[in-house]
Amino acid sequence: MIRTRIIGTGSHIPAKVLTNKDLETLVDTTDEWIVTRTGIKERRIADNGETSSCLAHQAALNALDMAGISAAELDMIIVGTVTPDMPTPSVACLLQDKLKALKAAAFDISAGCTGFLYALSVADSLIRAGNHKKVLVVGVDTLTKITDYTDRTTCILFGDGAGAVVLSKDNGANGILSSLLYSDGSCGNLLYMPGGGSANPASPDTIAKRYHYLKMDGNKVFKLAVKALEDCVVKILSHNNLTSDAIDLLIAHQANLRIIQAIAKRLELPPEKVFINIEKYGNTSSASVPIALDEANRQNRIKPDDLILLNAFGAGFTWGSALVRW
Ligand code: ACO
Repeated sequence: MIRTRIIGTGSHIPAKVLTNKDLETLVDTTDEWIVTRTGIKERRIADNGETSSCLAHQAALNALDMAGISAAELDMIIVGTVTPDMPTPSVACLLQDKLKALKAAAFDISAGCTGFLYALSVADSLIRAGNHKKVLVVGVDTLTKITDYTDRTTCILFGDGAGAVVLSKDNGANGILSSLLYSDGSCGNLLYMPGGGSANPASPDTIAKRYHYLKMDGNKVFKLAVKALEDCVVKILSHNNLTSDAIDLLIAHQANLRIIQAIAKRLELPPEKVFINIEKYGNTSSASVPIALDEANRQNRIKPDDLILLNAFGAGFTWGSALVRW
């Protein structure tokens, strides 16, 4: 049986820190409100010129280094992102060039904060179909470039970063056991950026209307996220004839500590089986799951044969889960 193994993980976070105290000087908010409602204490901000492909490049180099392979061996690069350097070319193509991964085909996937899980699932399918052996999957976003720092309901949430995994074809029992992906386009208006596409091409008018920033109904997103993720994690376990006590580590999208805690409670997971780093980075969108996976891996929170549950939820709406036997 062909399986997809994760043979390397990597991440890269910008150096510039924006704390809750800094945000208190920009909008009407408090450190106490942000920590209580979200769990976030600070986030990282990409500098001018520090693009999504720059962050993706560093994360990819770290993942390739751990995997012990060269970029020349990659036959596919898939990047989950909603903040490409520019509409075209894709981040994946820019990254292919930076890495000199000359053999690799490359494309982006836009699935909000679920982008990494979508990319992982597609890569897994390509490998198990038999046509690809070594695939680089990256989740990267620079959401702070499309964040409105006059809107206190969104600007407290987002940070920038990139995470990457190197996947390899394998014949053993371990690897990606299964993934489940979902979308509900009817909820698209709850989290969106109206400007810059074919609906509202950039113009002085779209800039004046602040159309080039994210708009979100956070409370509705919160409730839908909890419900969708609870259903999804229960389904993926039952599809694999597993119960939640088999999970060794939950690595969830770091959007809101209360959402992660609700899923952990539903699965009856003790705190030591739930990986949390939201306090340092906020919601890094597509990058959040692979950054958390890389940190957990480098902190030796993941042992051979451990069962890892990944999940994410984001704009679209999109959501999904994956089960990995390490
Ligand atoms: N500081 C102080 N008060 C605030 C702030 C703030 N930064 N933001 C909102 N408030 C106020 C509101 O105005 C409201 O005041 P009111 O009661 O006088 O009207 C009050 O706080 C409560 O607002 P809610 O929106 O109901 O607060 P909630 O508990 O839902 O928390 C939050 C808001 C943190 C945004 C939460 O809803 C959330 O995390 N939602 C999920 C968001 C998410 O994960 N989005 C990303 C999806 S991924 C992607 O694709 C990018």
